[in-house]
Amino acid sequence: MSRHFLRDDDLTPVEQAAVLDRAAALKADHFALRPLQGPRVVALIFDKPTLRTQLSFTVGVAELGGQPMTVDGRLAQIGSRESIADVTRVLDRQVAAIVWRTYEQANIEQMAAHSAVPVINALTDDFHPCQILADLLTIREHKGTLAGLTMTYVGDGANNMAHSYLLGGATAGMHVRIGAPGTHQPRADIAERAAEIAAHTGGSVQITDDPVAAVVAADVVITDTWVSMGQEAEAGDRKGAESPFAKYAVDGALVSHADDHAIVMHCLPAYRGFEISADVIDGPQSVVWDEAENRLHAQKAVLSFLLES
Ligand code: NVA
Repeated sequence: MSRHFLRDDDLTPVEQAAVLDRAAALKADHFALRPLQGPRVVALIFDKPTLRTQLSFTVGVAELGGQPMTVDGRLAQIGSRESIADVTRVLDRQVAAIVWRTYEQANIEQMAAHSAVPVINALTDDFHPCQILADLLTIREHKGTLAGLTMTYVGDGANNMAHSYLLGGATAGMHVRIGAPGTHQPRADIAERAAEIAAHTGGSVQITDDPVAAVVAADVVITDTWVSMGQEAEAGDRKGAESPFAKYAVDGALVSHADDHAIVMHCLPAYRGFEISADVIDGPQSVVWDEAENRLHAQKAVLSFLLES
């Protein structure tokens, strides 16, 4: 049975810490591990747009000794041209691992259920666990620790990033706060699961519709686009004059409530003047370029970990 990484809580707290240690080691020596030497191939399948994910997995698979193969989801048409199960059974006889960016979480779970090789979630509508590993690595680099820190996410609390911060942050023993409008708060089952994890790791979960209460004294302030991939038809409502997210914009005034040494993060792509102001994302507290680079190291770490497991 292969191990998969489909959501943040697929790694235990001990495993998550080990993966982050491994990521730091791989950052110090890019070629320290060569589990894909051969080269063995990793399939990278994209049903949604990508830049950072395709880049970092392509570089990462190559640095691990392997050969990446990007599959355009419009050509493969997984789930419509042929079933997820059939695609998986064809792929897993030839590749070492499968990385998939798609829509429904249920689809990647179905792929994993049929796959003899590790399946990694490269973003679904519900979770983006690879990004959270990169973010945790970034926070650790800047703050020296994770457990006990307050990590606040403000904006669309119902999206994949918010859900992954809840699960991944709780796993790391962090105090995770979500500031989001009542209409766009995290799914209850995910918030409950995060609270359950936090009860064991010493972390906590707080969800509020008050952006200032969410940010006050926080060590890390994070936001994400108000229009996630797949929500383009709602862009007018989400970004327009009546945007429910307007008061959750991460600007200088909101960040002033955080700890003086707070860092600011954004998974990118960023829309300056909407979820984050230009002076904040391009200012001294922003660590977004470290965060983007750390996708490479975090994903190499989790991929090599799964290949060994
Ligand atoms: N919530 C965003 C994350 C992009 C990396 C989206 O799903 O489009």
